[in-house]
Amino acid sequence: MTRSPATAHSDALVIFGITGDLAHKMTLPALYHLEKRGLLAVPVIGVAANDMGDADLWAMTRDAVHTVMQAAGEEVDEAVLTRLTERMTYLGGDFTDAGLYTRLAAHMKGMKSPLFYLEIPPSLFGPVVEQLGAADLTEGCRVAVEKPFGTSLDTAIELNDRLHQVLREDQLLRIDHYLGKEPVQDIEYVRFSNAWLEPLWRREYVESIQITMAEDFGVDDRGSFYDKVGTLRDVVQNHLLQVLALVLMEPPGASDDPIGDRRLDVFRAIRPLTADDVVRGQYDGYRSIPGVASDSDTETFVAVRLHCDTWRWAGVPIIIRAGKRMPITSTEVVVRFRKAPAFRLGDRLQRVAGHDDVVLRIGKPSGIDIGIRVKTPGVDAVEPEFLSLDFADTLGEFPSPYERLLHDAMIGDHTLFPRWDSVEATWEIVQPVLDDPPPVTSYEPGTWGPTEADRFVRGHGGWRDPRQST
Ligand code: BG6
Repeated sequence: MTRSPATAHSDALVIFGITGDLAHKMTLPALYHLEKRGLLAVPVIGVAANDMGDADLWAMTRDAVHTVMQAAGEEVDEAVLTRLTERMTYLGGDFTDAGLYTRLAAHMKGMKSPLFYLEIPPSLFGPVVEQLGAADLTEGCRVAVEKPFGTSLDTAIELNDRLHQVLREDQLLRIDHYLGKEPVQDIEYVRFSNAWLEPLWRREYVESIQITMAEDFGVDDRGSFYDKVGTLRDVVQNHLLQVLALVLMEPPGASDDPIGDRRLDVFRAIRPLTADDVVRGQYDGYRSIPGVASDSDTETFVAVRLHCDTWRWAGVPIIIRAGKRMPITSTEVVVRFRKAPAFRLGDRLQRVAGHDDVVLRIGKPSGIDIGIRVKTPGVDAVEPEFLSLDFADTLGEFPSPYERLLHDAMIGDHTLFPRWDSVEATWEIVQPVLDDPPPVTSYEPGTWGPTEADRFVRGHGGWRDPRQST
């Protein structure tokens, strides 16, 4: 594993933004699960602007855990929940006020290697880290920051430089929750532990690669956030390029950060996008969402065609599409293999229909589908069928991304956190179209976006639409 030099297990977890939506939905339930597994051995200090006390934080935590567990159909273990709340204290104040940090320092007396987790608006990352530094709280600490890391190449560089004034790179953990997903980590394990698969995973056998991230819901109550961001920044520059890197990378080696290094090689080999490589769509009705400009041209759908100039992938079309208000919610990587030619049976040529796809399902239900052609019963024909593995059915439940990432951050394992050089390289890929975006085309909610995106898969067997999640 990739460890920071400051390898000490964190001796406190300090969460800025503990009263926010993300904490309610993800962080607090993740802490409950870590407590249950005996992996949360530290005090938890919640910090937010709200005027409230410890008891309010405990009540909020109970409510969050009960809500999320109920929705998942799971029983809450009250003893575990009590153990968790007993670890928790609250500190309220203005994040830009030095007084808050003086009180925090007093509260943290004796703690030497805290993890500060910032789930707050990115505009506050700089001010909070500077205040932590001024209060002498950063020496043995690590700091985990939520996405987005910048809104463009320049702003990401600016933010990084600002944070590096106070922190070393090995103290900084940039969260991309997709890397914390078990089925995403599975990509590298499946690729490099199945001897039959790896020799085929290259340009000689792979015809094209598609990634679809479809969400059947819209922007809803996130209008003012989303309208400044759009799909390319929201999920392609980060989540989907990170997933793609795991699909394309070379086998990891013996360096200090084996997977991070290989992911970086991929990003550096992908050509920066041009307008011709991008189709942008916006669903009808988006402009009437509160917080969205009435003449907005922000995309809620994007399809991009990428070129990866490595020995393994040169010439293979790589297409990513992502959108809101699609027919279903699902994320899939499709590796489409070259077709077998027709085969001769005496004086007859047997045609080979369909596609040879290996489908890595990252959303729910996560798993793998491997296409294999079999004879159609009673007829002299072959059709592709799928060998399907559903991870939850076969392997049982797995930890949520936040459970995994918070734990890794506390033990100082950087493997699942994008390094600065990778983040910079991914911004370099998308920046040309952020500067000069092609026009946006409208689409009907509940469809697969503008049909113009079909041109990327024409001649490559068309899109494979993912199946419904449960
Ligand atoms: C977030 C985006 O980072 O990822 C959201 O801001 C998106 O717009 C979400 O819906 C998807 O995450 P997941 O884990 O539900 O696929």
